[in-house]
Amino acid sequence: MILKKLELKNFRNYDNLELNFDKKINIFIGNNAQGKTNILESIYVLALTKSHRTNKDTYLIKQNSLFTKVIGSVEENSKSTNYEILINTEGKRVSINSNPLKKVSEYLSRINAIMFCPDDLEIIKGTPLNRRSFFNVEISGLSNNYVKYLSDYNKILKTRNEYLKTTEKVDFDYFNIITDKLIMLNIQIYKERRDFVNKINKYIKTIYKDISGKEDIVVKYDSFIDNEENDKYLYFQLQNKYEGSFNNELYQKVTLLGVHKDDFSIFIDGVKINNYGSQGQHRISILCLKLAEIEIYKNEYKKEPILLLDDIFSELDRIKKVNIINYIKNDLQVFITSTDLDNIDKKIVKDADIFTIKEGKVTRGD
Ligand SMILES: Nc1ncnc2c1ncn2[C@@H]1O[C@H](COP(=O)(O)OP(=O)(O)OP(=O)(O)O)[C@@H](O)[C@H]1O
Ligand SMILES: [Mg+2]
Repeated sequence: MILKKLELKNFRNYDNLELNFDKKINIFIGNNAQGKTNILESIYVLALTKSHRTNKDTYLIKQNSLFTKVIGSVEENSKSTNYEILINTEGKRVSINSNPLKKVSEYLSRINAIMFCPDDLEIIKGTPLNRRSFFNVEISGLSNNYVKYLSDYNKILKTRNEYLKTTEKVDFDYFNIITDKLIMLNIQIYKERRDFVNKINKYIKTIYKDISGKEDIVVKYDSFIDNEENDKYLYFQLQNKYEGSFNNELYQKVTLLGVHKDDFSIFIDGVKINNYGSQGQHRISILCLKLAEIEIYKNEYKKEPILLLDDIFSELDRIKKVNIINYIKNDLQVFITSTDLDNIDKKIVKDADIFTIKEGKVTRGD
């Protein structure tokens, strides 16, 4: 998958920007606060319809403008597709090849992009909420079904919570129907998350070994659901769990069980690094996690994701840098930002197109 052309209108600090990409490796160089991350962010928005660094879409609109537009032309299997996202204060509209789509969810899972950025550390050091959003974003990129399950789950959960909060006398015919729906969606989401973590574990050991020389790393999925292969058993298990917690839920007036409380953790040499790891271990494990995702895209889905590497080279020592690049260089299109070309391996720079950014203006060359 190759992004051939990117057009921005009123996006962050850009008025009108049009960039064509001819090479696989593209490097954006510039001082702080010039607009390097903004470009990677716009590519991320093109893929996922939302930013990796804010939940407020309107922040993406250039100050004093009424809307922003991100347009991209993506080539896959020698077929070119045009994607467009328009954001204004009323919401967002998406279209593919000039055909507007009714729902944003129909747009998702088509452009595959993986972002590496300094904020990723939150996936390890942050709250379970940070980790769940990682799950949600990454699995949504792989599975359009997941997008639907998640949106249905959130709706049912809201209805169930409303009901628990406002009802004096529970109508069990009705309540059991909503609980049943919630159970079915719990199972779907659980299975997608479990399979995703299993796939990550299939690749992460080898990657960690390539980078650090050791291989004892494992990702653990923590859910209230006990693993069972059979859907029927999963269903009975959840029925029991919800029955068991019903009195408590009635008392606390809220749904106490569900995949909206899931979490996951990373263990290196048997130690849970979320609480105990060093800075270096946090960084490396996040990188390995993301590199494992690339392997999933390539091997399990036969897709080549676009990689967005925001400012990740200044923080890693040289050996790890080289190893990481060897991983990444296998044919994937990469967008890299850095304040200084010296931070990036010469072998990479040699094969790259360089763009220099100054105050929201981009020029080719360094
Ligand atoms: N909605 C907006 N309208 C106008 N300007 C904006 C908007 N949002 C962000 N900016 C400007 O964009 C600039 C930041 O751009 P960006 O985050 O891409 O910088 P950067 O080049 O990645 O810097 P660093 O090297 O520090 O990471 C800031 O000057 C900020 O004021
Ligand atoms: Mg930046």
